[in-house]
Amino acid sequence: GSKRVVVTKNLPGERWLKVLTAAGCRVEVCTLEDTILDVATIKKLIGKKCDGVIGQLTEDWSHELFGALRGAGGTAYSNYAVGYNNVHVPAATDNSIAVGNTPGVLTETTAELAAALTLAAARRVVEGDRFMRGGQYKGWLPDLFSKIVGIVGAGRIGAAYARMFAEGHKMDIVYYDPYPNKHLEDFIGAYGKLLESKGERAVTIEQLPTVEDVLKRADVVSLHCNLDENTKHLINAERLGMMKPDAVLVNAARGPVIDETALVAHLQANPDFRVGLDVFEDEPAMKPGLAECENAVIVPHIASASLWTRSGMATLAACNVAARLSGHPVWSDSDVLPFVDGPFEKIPK
Ligand code: GLV
Ligand code: GLV
Repeated sequence: GSKRVVVTKNLPGERWLKVLTAAGCRVEVCTLEDTILDVATIKKLIGKKCDGVIGQLTEDWSHELFGALRGAGGTAYSNYAVGYNNVHVPAATDNSIAVGNTPGVLTETTAELAAALTLAAARRVVEGDRFMRGGQYKGWLPDLFSKIVGIVGAGRIGAAYARMFAEGHKMDIVYYDPYPNKHLEDFIGAYGKLLESKGERAVTIEQLPTVEDVLKRADVVSLHCNLDENTKHLINAERLGMMKPDAVLVNAARGPVIDETALVAHLQANPDFRVGLDVFEDEPAMKPGLAECENAVIVPHIASASLWTRSGMATLAACNVAARLSGHPVWSDSDVLPFVDGPFEKIPK
C-alpha cells in the first residue's frame, strides 16, 4: 500500500508535495494553523500507521514522539529547518528513525537578515524611523567602515555573513569556531590580495582561540552557532561585559544562545550598546524589558523567510522523507559543502 506521511504544518510551494507523491506517499497535512502543536496532538496525528513525518522547529521531537512514530511503523523524520535543537537525535536513532534537516537553501537568506539587523542596529534605522515619524530629529553616528566583525560559529551561514561584510564593507573578520574554516580564510585572503594589488588596504581574517577573544576585539559580533549544551547562554552577563560598550550584537541563530535577561540589563546599562535579534530565549515571548529597549532591533524569527528559501526548505524536507522511505540515505549536513549555492542539483528527480 502507499506510505502515509504526516506534515505537521502546511508548507510553501508545490514541489515538496510532488516529491512525496512521486515517491508513492499519501500526504496528510495538519490543518491546525496558527498553533504550536504539543506532543499529545502530534501523537494523534501519527496515529496507528505513519511512515514518515515532516515537523517544525517549534515541536519537541524526543523519545515520546519517536517511540510513537516507530510504533506506527515509521522510519523517517525531517525537520523543516536547518537547526535541529528541537530534535533528540539519539532518541530517533534508538528507534531506527532517520532524521533530516534543510541545510544550504537558507544560508544566504539568513546571513542577509543578520546583516540587515547589523546595519539596522548599528545605524539606528528603526529608531530613526520612529523619530522621523514622531517629528523628531537626532544626529548621526560613525559608520561601520574599517571596523572589526566577529563571527561566533563560522559554518555556512557565519561564513556567508563574513563574506558580506568583508567584501561589501571591507571590514576585517575575526572568528571563533572549534574548527578552522579554511575555505573562508582562503576566500578572504585572496580578496585581500586583490585589494592590495589595487593599492587598497587588504581585509584580513583571523581565527581566535576563544569566544572571549572575539568579544573583546570585535565592534560587531554575529552569532551563527548551533544551540546545544555548549552554546546555551554562551553570551551571558560576564561575556557581555567583555564587549566594547558601543558594540553591536546580532543573533539570528537560536534565542537561548544569549541569556536574554542579562542582555536586557546590559542594554539598559549601556545605551550605546546595540543588539539585533531574530530569535528569543522563550520564543515567541520576549524577556521583560526587551521591548522597551530603544537600542534593540527585534524581528520575529524571519531569517529564512523568503519564498525561494522556504519552498527550498520544504523540498529538502520532502526529499529527506522520500529518500528514506525509498531506502536511500537522508539529506544530511555532510552532503553540503561550504559555499555551494544550494543543493538542488542533488535532489533526486
Ligand atoms: C530556522 O530557524 C532554521 O533553523 O531553519
Ligand atoms: C547551517 O548552519 C547552514 O548554514 O545551513
